Amino acid sequence: MLKARMYLDSEYRIGKLDRRIFGSFIEHLGRAVYTGIYEPGHPSSDEEGFRKDVIELVRALNTPIIRYPGGNFVSGYNWEDGIGPKDKRPKRLDLAWRSIEPNEIGINEFVSWTKKVNAEVMMAINLGTRGIDSARNIVEYCNYPGGTYYSDLRRSHGIEEPHRIKVWCLGNEMDGPWQIGHKTAVEYGRLAVESAKVMRWVDPTIELVVCGSSNPWMPTYPEWEYTVLDLTYEYIDYVSMHIYYRKRQEDDTLTFVAKSIEMDGFIKTVASLCDVVKAKKRSKKTVNISFDEWNVWYHSSERDRKVEPWQFAPPLCEEDYTVEDAILFGSMLITLLKNADRVKIACLAQLVNVIAPITTQPGGIAFKRTIYYPFMHASNTAKGDVLLAKLDSPRYDCKLYTDVPYIEGVAVYNEEDKGLVIFAINRSLEESALLEINMAGFDRYSRVEHTILTDNDIYASNTLSDPDRVKPKSLAIDIKDDKKIEIELPKFSWNVLRLIPSSTSTYQS
Ligand code: AHR
Repeated sequence: MLKARMYLDSEYRIGKLDRRIFGSFIEHLGRAVYTGIYEPGHPSSDEEGFRKDVIELVRALNTPIIRYPGGNFVSGYNWEDGIGPKDKRPKRLDLAWRSIEPNEIGINEFVSWTKKVNAEVMMAINLGTRGIDSARNIVEYCNYPGGTYYSDLRRSHGIEEPHRIKVWCLGNEMDGPWQIGHKTAVEYGRLAVESAKVMRWVDPTIELVVCGSSNPWMPTYPEWEYTVLDLTYEYIDYVSMHIYYRKRQEDDTLTFVAKSIEMDGFIKTVASLCDVVKAKKRSKKTVNISFDEWNVWYHSSERDRKVEPWQFAPPLCEEDYTVEDAILFGSMLITLLKNADRVKIACLAQLVNVIAPITTQPGGIAFKRTIYYPFMHASNTAKGDVLLAKLDSPRYDCKLYTDVPYIEGVAVYNEEDKGLVIFAINRSLEESALLEINMAGFDRYSRVEHTILTDNDIYASNTLSDPDRVKPKSLAIDIKDDKKIEIELPKFSWNVLRLIPSSTSTYQS
């Protein structure tokens, strides 16, 4: 058995966890919207055509903010196409995903849906084919109370109260040649800052996210961030980061599940770039990170190449996630939490059908993919401050990296109810690990609730015919010595350890 040691002190903290780190993303792409969240005529659909079975699964994920409407889609999107009477809305060619967009769902319907799932909207604007004028108009339509052209247009559409959308993305992946209206860093930085200016003039309370690089392998990274931040720094609040990991043919499992190590380096570099520009500008403001697209994405690539273009809601990017994927996914979540001092928003990309934790069958069931569980566990239990934990673990070398810890984990402490939760993965395919948790400065704990996601078959997944093949198990462990707790982490597993204070009979989730 492997042995690992975690040291926790209630005084040593990384910082307060912003719950928006558990954000997610719905794009007009494939079946995310149509036959995903929205399917009029489905046995479970409500009066607006939204699937109630999906609403229930999304609610359980407790995601506080949902990015919309893209993604690559937004760079060719006219937001005006999605407002007003549905029968007057145009059908358009969506050039980003080579599909037909009927515009049956637009801003107002999406805001209504997010209310049903207890989330707020993070709205992206089109800085690909459009610009400053459309940017100020969409903020006026969504957020201005009334008495002006666009605010009254909204009211005429039956939405009396402004949506008060707080977080806005200034375009999407504008560094990528695949993007409609792709720009150089200077072209984009200038457009972003001028758009930001007028958007804030319409509504000074909004927060703005400027586009960072699409991934750390872009040839323009990190020069892109430096130039864009230099042009926009005083007008924006966050810089975006995106990453998707894939398993290449040459990657073995131990290499694949170690990829989150790169994510950590990527975050540290982008945070440093923000601080360099801050110093250069003698600014008092700190720009933080919105990691607004992250996930594992590779299973569907081959299949997607064969999908006929110009269909309505084609099945694109539908990932059949395995246990192996859930372990890497869990380690990505841990990485985001460990960087909670700089990552204030993060969006699991995406939420339904498209690279998603939830899959729907048109006219049929909705079910949970393996990655649903780590996300649900973290978003429902992590509250308060992320602790500066020291974790000693045995390590391994693999094809891409050296010194990869078998055990990786993070602890979050909630001052209010004294609850402490530890998320940990065991990357070993061979051995379970005894995790010794040494604690200083905490109240007394009497019990550990241990939730485990693992399977003898690391390639097992949940499917339409067997939707509950992979699911977590929980056990309760009474503890005698709460200064030094020993818990066994099964081989190749995702683990949640909730320490229950002696003073509490039931833990508040
Ligand atoms: O999330 C899927 C796509 O991935 C998004 O549209 C784009 O921003 C990214 O490349």
